[in-house]
Amino acid sequence: TNAAVTIDRKLRVAPVRRRLFGSFVEHLGRCVYTGIHEPGHPTADAEGFRRDVLDLVQELGVTTIRYPGGNFVSSYRWEDGVGPVAQRPVRLDLAWHSTEPNTVGVNEFMRWCRLAGVEPMLAVNLGTRGIQEAVDLLEYCNIESGTHLSDLRREHGAKDAHDVRMWCLGNEMDGSWQVGRRTAVEYGRLAAQTAHAMRLVDPKLELVVCGSSSSSMSTFGAWEADVLAETYDEVDYISAHAYYEEHEGDTASFLASAVDMDYFIDSVVAAADLARAKKKAKKRIAISFDEWNVWYLSRTPAQMPTASWPVAPRLLEDRYSVADAVTVGGLLICLLRHSDRVHAASLAQLVNVIAPIMTEPGGRAWRQTTFHPFALTARYATGDVLAVQPTSPQQETRRYGDVPVLDAVATVDGDGQVAVFAVNRSPAEPLTLTVDARSLGETRIVECVTLSDPDIYRFNTADEPDAVTPRPNRSARMEQGRVELVLPAVSWTMLRLS
Ligand code: AHR
Repeated sequence: TNAAVTIDRKLRVAPVRRRLFGSFVEHLGRCVYTGIHEPGHPTADAEGFRRDVLDLVQELGVTTIRYPGGNFVSSYRWEDGVGPVAQRPVRLDLAWHSTEPNTVGVNEFMRWCRLAGVEPMLAVNLGTRGIQEAVDLLEYCNIESGTHLSDLRREHGAKDAHDVRMWCLGNEMDGSWQVGRRTAVEYGRLAAQTAHAMRLVDPKLELVVCGSSSSSMSTFGAWEADVLAETYDEVDYISAHAYYEEHEGDTASFLASAVDMDYFIDSVVAAADLARAKKKAKKRIAISFDEWNVWYLSRTPAQMPTASWPVAPRLLEDRYSVADAVTVGGLLICLLRHSDRVHAASLAQLVNVIAPIMTEPGGRAWRQTTFHPFALTARYATGDVLAVQPTSPQQETRRYGDVPVLDAVATVDGDGQVAVFAVNRSPAEPLTLTVDARSLGETRIVECVTLSDPDIYRFNTADEPDAVTPRPNRSARMEQGRVELVLPAVSWTMLRLS
């Protein structure tokens, strides 16, 4: 079967936004403790940050990191995580039934961000706390000096203000699992008041209000409309969260998860633009897709501690397969395609917890399968996003009906570097793809790599960390401005031209 795409600079969607390649560090399981932070590890620096993990974070190319939650933030007291470590309280973490030692807090996280070369994005607690605590944290972080909390930060060793631009107003406040969950109107009011007060402290902030926790929430759509009716003037972004998994061997639907993400984004854009019309507002609200990934959520309840409160337990340590990596690659294609309205996104999460990077305590750090499509997209998607007008055979799926077998997007930068990202969603059939690049003039193939394997459930382990990696796709041929290549069944491919 055959599919085709066209590369044409005239089909520009939007610039590639670097914040699209964000990720997420939550105090959950081993993301922080024995993930990014492990004093005594052979690669740990003086502050206890693992250098091996930092190296992989840099190779992954993540740009913005959301912290400290997630569900964790909704009962978190930020003051517990600052000041002399020996004096910090040990607390119950209600979200993950764990014990939080508070060894890492906001100042450690900021230092880690500097080492990693990433932009921090902080979430405030609007579950058990409110306006005052949010404003206090902001004063502690962003005011240079001369006030009680800014001087306290300096006493705590952080001389310069952290100058954090992006802030999330709570987390998943629509979820039954959330500590302090609220109705849309209750939450909207609190978020608007908090945003207003935060902007009085620092007018340069970019604020994210909570959208729905998934498109399957019973309040989806209405939540966005009601929350934005309360907050439209005060916020810049509305969040979206989505996790996908393969249900009962339904590979075809799973590989087409981006169909749901498309629907999610289109729906939130519609809700945001209706709120805009009602307000007669000039500004448009963008989407911060600040949690997305493959997550075998249906397996999670069995892992949750109930009788004890462990420190940094092994939680949500999903092992990702070839099929999972192809799906992640497809979701990245979808996010790029929507760059006109999705201005930021965070792969949830970064280390150990539903993560592209895994670690063993005292041992090695290694790349999951999903690391690869993310790293290559973050690295080579530059310049502008182009729509590619795909033509493709269709296949039937249980969840989404008929869907195109091919999903693809392209980017081009000012130097004429082109990257095409493509997924073959067929569980069984290879697909021949023609890339019509004639409009670019003289071009050549720079690189073509594909991630696939005859065993679509193959995954990487600490002992075999490179079992699944992208490999050169030698089928790619260019003739008279057209590239022809074969996309194996269940595969993700990157083609670079210049
Ligand atoms: O990323 C894991 C969890 O998923 C987050 O804590 C929460 O926001 C979401 O439900």
